[in-house]
Amino acid sequence: MPETGLVLGIESSCDETAASVVEAGRRVLSNRIASQVPMHQRWGGVVPEIASRAHLEQIVAIVDGALEDAGVSLDAIEAIAMTRGPGLVGSLLVGVEFAKGISAARGIPLVSVQHVAGHLYSPYIGREKDAWGNDVKGETTFEPYIGMAVSGGHSSIALVESPLTITVLGETLDDAVGEAYDKIAKLIGLDYPGGPIVDRLAAEGNPAAFELPRPMLHRDNLDFSFSGLKTAFAREVEKLGGREAIEGNETLVADLCASFQAACIDVLVGKARRALRDHGLKRLAVVGGVACNQGLRRALGRRLKGIAIALPQPEFCTDNAAMIAGLGWYLHRAGLHSSPAVNATASLSLTLPEGGWQV
Ligand code: KG4
Ligand code: ZN
Repeated sequence: MPETGLVLGIESSCDETAASVVEAGRRVLSNRIASQVPMHQRWGGVVPEIASRAHLEQIVAIVDGALEDAGVSLDAIEAIAMTRGPGLVGSLLVGVEFAKGISAARGIPLVSVQHVAGHLYSPYIGREKDAWGNDVKGETTFEPYIGMAVSGGHSSIALVESPLTITVLGETLDDAVGEAYDKIAKLIGLDYPGGPIVDRLAAEGNPAAFELPRPMLHRDNLDFSFSGLKTAFAREVEKLGGREAIEGNETLVADLCASFQAACIDVLVGKARRALRDHGLKRLAVVGGVACNQGLRRALGRRLKGIAIALPQPEFCTDNAAMIAGLGWYLHRAGLHSSPAVNATASLSLTLPEGGWQV
């Protein structure tokens, strides 16, 4: 086995086919991503059958491309890390089976990574510096932080003591925040994925124009719920005369977007503040697609004074394989390898079970 520190990561849990080569868990040598957004756009959401087929068509070129960009062959790869779950099972199994195939054919050790744990580790990866501002070639020291993973598939708050020591503190009881963004965008005739569009339009609107709830904000726990907010938004749309009455009215659309975004931001910042206070911590990482949100980024900096906030570069916020390869390095070093019998799993616990995520 070569001792190069190079891990090949493979990610296919939703609608991005991705592969990456990362050195010693931190320095990203390549980061290939094939997004399927245009294929799902006309349906206003991810269609599992289309996603699975597209992964199959892309995976070979994406993995080859990642190795080529890194300037290495499989001979230099010390371990392969793949996303085992959670996600769409038909999508996951393309990456899992492909990784198993290379591992078996080349005798390269294989590790299984939990997708959200990968997101929570993403602040530590980078091309030059990580999201905490450290040189990725330097010494790695881990200090505990509160990690908030917010994307289209998940909204979780966790205590991250080290890359493999994660305690879930709260989760969404229904929709994920990114999913709520995408659904309300569809209600007012905006394209998929709605999150970035709503974010852009919100900047021009009045956040107090519509009174929307802040679900769970004052509950004494760290769980989220976004389905009620989405329903309250739908009610406002109805009161205004429905989608047809709103489309094309730029001020109205901007006000609706700004009001929705303000509600999400209040909840996310409020829950982050509570988790930091409960655990006496001053470090926060916000990860996942919604961590790209400009309004959220500004609000975190303004409202959480004295807190060191890590926001990964946008390319490491949305789904990518670099975070999988990065976290995979620690599983490999801990000897938590997967057998060829490992399967793709639609739901997989975020907390690392004894023995790894491979059983
Ligand atoms: O992490 P990601 O690529 O995939 C999942 O694991 O879900 O996140 C995609 C989600 C989508 O719901 C998208 O609308 C949302 O992240 N998103 C945003 C922004 N950029 C992406 N939501 C709000 N504001 C943004 N700027
Ligand atoms: Zn994700």
